[in-house]
Amino acid sequence: MRAFAVSDLHVDYAENLRWVEGLSTQEYTQDVLILPGDLSADPLLQARCLSALRKRFQAVFFVPGNHDVWVRKADMRDSWQRLEDLDALCQSEGVDTRVRRLNGCWFVPLLGWYDFSFGQPSANLRRRWADFRHCRWPDGMDEMEVNLRLLERNEGPPAHGLVEEPVITFSHYLPRPDALPAFVDPERYWLLPVLGCHGLEQHIRHWKSRCHVFGHSHLNARRQLDGVLYINNAFGYPSETKHVRKRLLPLPLERLEA
Ligand SMILES: [Fe+2]
Ligand SMILES: [Fe+2]
Repeated sequence: MRAFAVSDLHVDYAENLRWVEGLSTQEYTQDVLILPGDLSADPLLQARCLSALRKRFQAVFFVPGNHDVWVRKADMRDSWQRLEDLDALCQSEGVDTRVRRLNGCWFVPLLGWYDFSFGQPSANLRRRWADFRHCRWPDGMDEMEVNLRLLERNEGPPAHGLVEEPVITFSHYLPRPDALPAFVDPERYWLLPVLGCHGLEQHIRHWKSRCHVFGHSHLNARRQLDGVLYINNAFGYPSETKHVRKRLLPLPLERLEA
């Protein structure tokens, strides 16, 4: 069994969808794929993408991203409902959204959102960040509450049985600002407030994860920080060619052994 990761497939773009549907139907049947969010804003394309990948891999693990819960059609109630609908879609497609142990390795999805714990958004960011227009939360929920409610849903490690087996955690959002690639100065990066939250990092440490895969920034990174390997391997938009890789990334399972 190999484990691969790719985030931010954004199959709203036809060429991204073509890449997904062009993946080999034979090569990965014994393998696992981790998909840390941002498939599409369109539920039909989400279904098509998940179905295509599920046919190709032994198991597909998914956590939703911000684009996955945009509310852009009259028949969509709100972003929370979109999260629920997406989870139901994953269950019907056989896509994993819960903790699962496979071949002696734990795969741990971590839900979350950004909560401005990395910094407060500037007026410019408030104006330009599309989620502020396309995400709609019920009952006046703000980003902090969305994040808290999602973090609460995350499963903790079992009281017995984790032993020394490798754990791979994954989230759409960044668990710490320094998981950005080294060429980015987090202090000066204007998008930092909407990139993640510190709460995710606590879950990673609680699980004693040795590898955390994330997406969202479209800035690929591979950083060893405090004993955890943080990996971002985004597919990204067609116009993005510099800081993303248009390929599946194999995860170093053998290096995660105790
Ligand atoms: Fe994305
Ligand atoms: Fe995202």
